[in-house]
Parts: sequence; C-alpha cells; structure tokens
Amino acid sequence: MKIIIDTKEKIAEMAADRYVRLLKEKPNAVLGGATGSTPLGLYAELSRRCKAGEISFKDAMSFNLDEYVGLDGTHDQSYRYFMNENLFNHIDIDINKTFVPSGIDTDSASDYDKAIQAAGGIDMQLLGIGNNGHIGFNEPGTPFGSETHVVELTESTRSANARFFESIDEVPTHAVTMGIKTVMNARSVILMAIGSAKAEIIKATIQGPVTEEVPASVLQLHPDVEFYIDYEAAALL
Ligand code: GLP
Repeated sequence: MKIIIDTKEKIAEMAADRYVRLLKEKPNAVLGGATGSTPLGLYAELSRRCKAGEISFKDAMSFNLDEYVGLDGTHDQSYRYFMNENLFNHIDIDINKTFVPSGIDTDSASDYDKAIQAAGGIDMQLLGIGNNGHIGFNEPGTPFGSETHVVELTESTRSANARFFESIDEVPTHAVTMGIKTVMNARSVILMAIGSAKAEIIKATIQGPVTEEVPASVLQLHPDVEFYIDYEAAALL
C-alpha cells in the first residue's frame, strides 16, 4: 500500500502522472473510471495533458464503476453523461471503447464482469470514497465476493448526492455498481479522497479493521493500491 498526502491540486497531478506512466507502458490499457467531485481535478489535468500531447488514450478502453438505475446516458445526472462531459469529450479515447453500466437494462448487470474479463481485465481502477466508506455504490455490508449488481442506495448516500438534483425525491433509489470483487480483480487501484468530511472514513479505511461494514477497507488486502489524499482528508491518519 502506498499513501500519498499533499494538496488537492498536487494529488491530481500525481495521479495524472500515474496515468501517463501506465499508458506509456501499455497504450491499450483498460482503465476503471469513477465519478463524483473528487476525480474532477484529475480529469481536468488528464484533459489538459492530452490536448498538450503528453498522454494519449487512443488505444485505451475504460469501464466505469457505476450508474444510477432509471437514468439513461442523456440525463445530466447520469454517470455516462458525467464521464462524457468531464473526461471523454476532452481526450482522444474512442467513445465506443468506453463503458458505463446500463441504468436502464439492469438485467445485463452480470454481463459487465464478463465484458471486463473479455477485455483482459482492468489495469488500473480509480476510486473515490463515500462518507460511509462505499466504493462505487457498494454500501456497507456488501459481500466482498460481490460482482456487478443492482443495489438499493442508503439514505446517507442519497442525501449526500442530493446536491446534484433538484430535490432528494429525484435522487434514484437504486444503482448498478461493479462489485467489491470486480474492483479487487483490477491489477492496480488508486483511491482519491479530498476534504475534511472524508477524514474519519479514510482513517477507518487505512488503519481500521478489514470489514464489510467499511467497504473500502478491503483495499488493505489489494497487492497494488495507492491512496492519493489531500491534507484535510488525511488529518486523522
Ligand atoms: C458517489 C459515487 C462514488 C463516489 C462517491 C463520492 O456515491 N458512486 O463512486 O466515490 O459518490 O463522491 P465525491 O467524490 O463527490 O465525494
């Protein structure tokens, strides 16, 4: 486990450096994408570097972690829309090689793991973290053996995400998410956390017991995991 603590600007740059190294070594790498406000600085940096010719995604593929059930990719709160707006439209990736679980055809959830395997597995999975330790939308109590599946969102997650919707009633009640096992199967994982609201859960994730009650704590068992944390989120370590 590697832990990098710096300002939020610097961790975005250092995480971007990690992508540069990976894509230099393996231009056709399979990337695991994440949404939320945390990766926005990283995505802006990757977009900037791609425009400057410092990195290319033209042979890469990507699989996102999760999607809200009931929102199609044109909905401005869908994670497909988020990825297009914040990353894919600004880099040279082939959009046909970017995948986000379908929030509409949820019967196909288990095919997502098969598609990842058929692509050769994820080389590097990016993660944010929920205030309750969720990764993707794997809420506390999710079995570590889980693959891509539909979940009911906790009230704490729905109210944390309500800021992006007109009201909490509009926040979907369910989501489809890669499972914990899907994430752990990635050859490497990077988790980013920013801000004091994440300080307690970052401490529990890195220094607490490995427990399904703190989904991100499973990362202690991953052979190649890096945490990129700003000073505020690292305050209790
Ligand atoms: C959502 C996403 C997670 C993300 C989390 C934290 O619930 N499903 O993948 O990590 O939000 O979001 P933020 O980065 O905005 O704190």
